[in-house]
Amino acid sequence: MAFAKQLLSNWRRLLILAAALPLLCPTTDRYGSMLAQFPGQTPVVKGPWQDKTKSPDERADLLIGQMTLDEKVSLLHGPGFSRIFRAPGVEAPTISLGNAGYIPGIARLGIPDLQMADAAVGVTHGSAFGRYCTVLPSGESEASSWSTDVARFYGDLIGTELRDQGYTMSLGGGIDLAREPRNGRIFEYKGEDPILAGTMVGAEMKALQAQGVMGDIKHYAMNDSENGRNFVDIIADKRAMRESDLLAFEIGVKESGVSAVMCSYNLVNHDYACENNWLLNDVLKKDFGFQGFVISDWGATHSTVKAVMAGLDMQMPEDSYLGEPLKKAVQDGQVPPSRLDNMVHRVLRSEFAVGLFDRSLARTAVDPGAGLKVAELVAEEGTVLLKNANGQLPLSASSIRSIAVIGSHADVAVLSGGGSAQVDAPGGNAVPAGGNRGFGGAVWDPSSPLRAIHGKAPNAKVEYDAGTNPASAADLAKNSEVAIVFVNQHTSEGRDVPSLSLPDNQDGLVSAVAAANPHTIVVLETGGAVTMPWIENVSAVLAAWYPGIKGAEAIADILFGDVNPSGKLPLTFPKSEADLPHPKLATQPPPGPGDMKAPFPGVNFRLNTRQFEINDDEGLKVGYKWYDAEGKEPLFPFGYGLSYTTYAYSGLKVTPGSTPTVSFDVKNTGSRAGAEIAEVYVGLPASTNEPPKRLVAWQRIELAPGESKTVSFDLNPHYLSIFSEDKDAWQLAPGDYKVMVGGSSRDLPLNGTFRIPGE
Ligand code: BGC
Repeated sequence: MAFAKQLLSNWRRLLILAAALPLLCPTTDRYGSMLAQFPGQTPVVKGPWQDKTKSPDERADLLIGQMTLDEKVSLLHGPGFSRIFRAPGVEAPTISLGNAGYIPGIARLGIPDLQMADAAVGVTHGSAFGRYCTVLPSGESEASSWSTDVARFYGDLIGTELRDQGYTMSLGGGIDLAREPRNGRIFEYKGEDPILAGTMVGAEMKALQAQGVMGDIKHYAMNDSENGRNFVDIIADKRAMRESDLLAFEIGVKESGVSAVMCSYNLVNHDYACENNWLLNDVLKKDFGFQGFVISDWGATHSTVKAVMAGLDMQMPEDSYLGEPLKKAVQDGQVPPSRLDNMVHRVLRSEFAVGLFDRSLARTAVDPGAGLKVAELVAEEGTVLLKNANGQLPLSASSIRSIAVIGSHADVAVLSGGGSAQVDAPGGNAVPAGGNRGFGGAVWDPSSPLRAIHGKAPNAKVEYDAGTNPASAADLAKNSEVAIVFVNQHTSEGRDVPSLSLPDNQDGLVSAVAAANPHTIVVLETGGAVTMPWIENVSAVLAAWYPGIKGAEAIADILFGDVNPSGKLPLTFPKSEADLPHPKLATQPPPGPGDMKAPFPGVNFRLNTRQFEINDDEGLKVGYKWYDAEGKEPLFPFGYGLSYTTYAYSGLKVTPGSTPTVSFDVKNTGSRAGAEIAEVYVGLPASTNEPPKRLVAWQRIELAPGESKTVSFDLNPHYLSIFSEDKDAWQLAPGDYKVMVGGSSRDLPLNGTFRIPGE
């Protein structure tokens, strides 16, 4: 009897469940037979556009031929950070993955959802949904490797984790040049040189897109500082932009065939970047031949007709300009139907090109092991040894007896950069106490330098001091054989750092420790450059940037010589802020609301109308070009980085021609295996009025002790050219070119010349 009752109640439960099933999992949408589009469930719909032998452009056009006006407009905007979304007129809601952006696909035609994730330094917003995401070292660390292999691993990993989690589009790699070293987002970017940054992001995006996910390069353009980013008007001449920031985008776009370029918040020469005809139509689409779509930064759309006719293809998030107003503008004849079709074409051809229609969109488990390996490799190759007096490093694991580890929560964690690029720390913030925990607050990743150092020298006494009281830290240092001081500078989207000085009296801490122990090693965890008033008093300095989830292990490997450092600086470290092109932060103090990214949705960025101008009057002199041209001595120059071995350069041969070639030998003259990044700079003829030199080629060369290798390069004529505003074209100026080769922008032992003949 009891059994029968239980059976009945179970049956009742089952019946109730069966009745509720359609509500829990809707199986039809407005088109009748299709499944509602849960992530990864876009139905395959047969149609001629599924013919893989056709080009992405042909396939896109076949599909557009089937679409209604409403459907076309619906692909050009979507919500941000929402979870469940009901498109107007659609019965069944669709579900986003809850990240920065979402554009529901069109089930009737089998068009997949655009599930967009911020993913500049790894996939973000994982923890809210129980997803694991690898915390990669920062973009600055990636760039410090100067290795397109590292960039490929970086992009491949992000692409794989996005795909595994059901995403179809990445927001980032970022590439704005580090022309203002106090910019809060430098950690996301790839340094100050356009050819290095463009090459690295190009390799990264190509690898990311090979995973069947659309890539995006951002923020186009001149978004080189964060304070006041919503209303700052960058005044710069076209030649300077084409040869600096825009060149980085040009290379990135051309090398990767990236799907999207994100236009930035700021204005450039009086027009918002997202409605700037010169930037979008003339330069990006026409000159660079960009075939993908322009997506606005979040809230950076300011108009319908002006923006669309200037080249904007997608508003994110919200539909205030590219929803109903766009439909109306097409119906009223203000936007020609051909332009609307072109916008949709750009989106769809990019989806076809990366294979979104041809691969399974089902989610699969992320492989954390693969991510840890890549994170460690990037940190190893991206860490830069800045000083190593008297062979202080590497430490000897067998003979060292005591080590003081000081500061920066080095007992438990390493630091990461904040803002939309923030990757969730696995298991949560390792230093949860205090501070701003909201957007842009400091997040510490659970990777313990203390433990990693102890692991290397298990017989040594390894003690930790938090570094909050310099006197107590100095006491510990005095009684230890060496002191390793970890210092940090937290940076984030939404605000620039007020100065390049380490915050919270960390300069005082280093000085106190260095005064107590002559064997003081400083490990920097910073977004970019910082000043070092104590540099003469410490014996070694390592720039570890934000080193990612395996940061502690990579740092310990380098400190103890299991990895020979090979990273080189992708940006200049100045001696003092007085040496910068803009000694005072142009937007300090921040001019008003809107500096910090506001929570989405619901913030009206359009209220920020207090525009102000910044003159980028340094012109062509961006980064090291400024220091060279102005005769200023940097603290550590662009391209600089030490190794535990030494290298010698010889045998430069320069062959002139339409593509000049350069070859030379690099020899490992020390007793350890290592990798040298050999750098080639060129000085242009005086008639061009260029800064003294520009980086045009480089290679990372692995060398056994005593080994020598010959390296040769074909110099890309584009990289030797100047941009003529009069002719609106690149030109190779006739005259004598200087070739300079070596291991840093300020250490170039080999010199040669070639001549480009006149007309
Ligand atoms: C950032 C973008 C980001 C977007 C979405 C904006 O504030 O500038 O880089 O992709 O938010 O999170």
